[in-house]
Amino acid sequence: MNPSLYTQRRAKLAKLLGPKGVAILPTAPEQQRNSDSDFLYRFDSYFYYLTGFTEPKAWLVITGDGKTTMFCQPKDMEREIWDGFRLGPDAAPAQLGLDAAFSIADLDQQLPAMLDGRDAVWYPFATHKALETRIDGWLGSLRARVRYGTLCPEQQRDLRGLLDEMRLVKDGHEQDTMRRAGQISAGAHIRAMQLCARMLRDGQPVREYQLDAELLHEFRRHGSQYPAYGSIVAAGANACVLHYRADAGEVRSGELVLIDAGCELDGYASDITRTFPANGTFTGPQRALYELVLASQEAAIAVTRAGARFTDPHQATVKVLAQGMLDVGLLDKNKVGTLDDVIEKRAYFQFYMHRTGHWLGMDVHDCGGYLEPGEIGQTSERKDALTGETIIDRPARILQPGMVLTIEPGLYVRPAAGVPEQFHNIGIRIEDDAIVTDAGCELISRGVPVTVQAIEALMRG
Ligand code: GLY
Ligand code: MN
Ligand code: MN
Repeated sequence: MNPSLYTQRRAKLAKLLGPKGVAILPTAPEQQRNSDSDFLYRFDSYFYYLTGFTEPKAWLVITGDGKTTMFCQPKDMEREIWDGFRLGPDAAPAQLGLDAAFSIADLDQQLPAMLDGRDAVWYPFATHKALETRIDGWLGSLRARVRYGTLCPEQQRDLRGLLDEMRLVKDGHEQDTMRRAGQISAGAHIRAMQLCARMLRDGQPVREYQLDAELLHEFRRHGSQYPAYGSIVAAGANACVLHYRADAGEVRSGELVLIDAGCELDGYASDITRTFPANGTFTGPQRALYELVLASQEAAIAVTRAGARFTDPHQATVKVLAQGMLDVGLLDKNKVGTLDDVIEKRAYFQFYMHRTGHWLGMDVHDCGGYLEPGEIGQTSERKDALTGETIIDRPARILQPGMVLTIEPGLYVRPAAGVPEQFHNIGIRIEDDAIVTDAGCELISRGVPVTVQAIEALMRG
């Protein structure tokens, strides 16, 4: 680990706190699963961003003059025999580039003095259970000593705002980690696709969980700590359930499989979706809809660059998908009218009901505002032609180099009156991860093929 990376981030944050500000940040709590078993521990993303430290039961205090103090688990040979190595407060400063470290047991005793004389205390609002109460307690004990000359901070401010802006633009280290996560996840998708076709060719039954197992195997074998989110492996009609999870569904020859899965590597997520024919060959209707989704994704990719708005890829996607719905007969032009009508009335919503992307980073749906900060407060109003409800449009975030977002159009065709039967129960999504650059974007998930020809060739192999 290179502590200077984290030291630099903390120094940048300290400047934003103001000379008399102080920030308080705990890492994530351990979570009980049942009885005496815990869920696999995952640190808090903000905490890790500022420390690179992965142990539970740790707090960070940063003052506006740039001084960083950590409270962490003390060394304890008996606990370390059972639970593993602890860095401990003696070794932490040198290892993590801190100014000081204490045992977590000293937190209540030390914090009031660390807040004394500060003008604002910053902490993440509405994030950690009971954090506000804890801070109130420290402020209260400081206030109880005013007659001895203590000075209590007068402002409480949300630390998330500052850290969200910092995390929104990924530095070189973050981009490199995300590229590696994208490569591992792409390899996992390839492995699941090839296994699926091979087993069906050999006459073996295939279940969704078997493909899930391939993903996990590939993630872990390359050092990923865990999946970045619950993997979706959806066979046939299950693909039309947006948040379906890998389950026991049978994967049938002739149907499509939608896999939305990405590994987390050293704190950073990847998020890839591929949809492929279980037996390796698209049918005519599957191919028609797949080519449409792919064309809509290409349109979105083409407008993703620094200076564009976050909403531009979505609008580009919708235009292509809506035209395609008219062309293939998913929408009847005699009923819904022209392309403009379909977009204006959101008639495409029946088959495409989610946004085309989100920020990606330490969290799969990463932090960072979706509105341009300089334009917050500006709005325009319009009426939804279908429902009459008022829609307030706000100016979307302007993309900058180093921002990372997903581009993930889809089509989900549930059986309904007037919907051509050949398309029933087809669910398709294609999702890639893009680093915004000055000239366009770098797709870091294309290690797994995406065109019809390349997928079919891969699955024959
Ligand atoms: N896998 C979550 C998403 O695509 O947003
Ligand atoms: Mn996504
Ligand atoms: Mn996804």
